[in-house]
Amino acid sequence: MDIISAALSGIFLFLPALVPNSAAVLFGGGAPVDLGRTWRGKRILGDGKTWTGLFGGVAAGTSLGILLIMISMIFEFPEQWTWGGGMDALGVVFALALGSLLGDMTGALIKRRLGMERGHKAPVLDQYDFVAGGLGITALLFPAWIASRYVSGDGIVALVTLLVFVPVLHRTVNIIGYKMGKKKEPW
Ligand code: CTP
Ligand code: MG
Repeated sequence: MDIISAALSGIFLFLPALVPNSAAVLFGGGAPVDLGRTWRGKRILGDGKTWTGLFGGVAAGTSLGILLIMISMIFEFPEQWTWGGGMDALGVVFALALGSLLGDMTGALIKRRLGMERGHKAPVLDQYDFVAGGLGITALLFPAWIASRYVSGDGIVALVTLLVFVPVLHRTVNIIGYKMGKKKEPW
């Protein structure tokens, strides 16, 4: 497989983890996950992490994943462009979607402990918390899939491409969300 294909597959396969963040913005607004509770005088997660955002985001990422799995089957995508065979593929896209929002919540937990209010800019953490969560949870549940798609052989090209592309995409989407009035800050 050539290098361009390897690079693009890194982003394509991660779509079920990329969509939940934007979807959470659209679905948010309900009760916060921490139910308003504090820890050592600071909110545990804050009002930016809601149950509707969490469930809506995971549902959106998983739904997109299922759609892409069907497309990849119909058009017989090469192995490196798939989420695996059979039921495993469903598990992988769910792990990517859930992991990404768990990573995002972990990022919020860390920000609150550092005394940052909701929406405060936290470079690196804001751009990579959900990437670490998506890759981490999926690696835990489907280690062989992560190893073959993002680590061994051309997989490393996919990983580097993903890590370079994510901050650019994150910023672009957030500026759009901000202009649409859906997001309070453009980051
Ligand atoms: N959101 C949500 N539930 C989630 C994740 C996100 O409702 N589990 C919504 C919130 O409206 C949030 C918005 O998506 O404000 C943008 O998410 P993000 O930028 O991660 O949150 P911030 O508002 O920046 O808050 P934090 O400082 O906690 O990251
Ligand atoms: Mg965030």
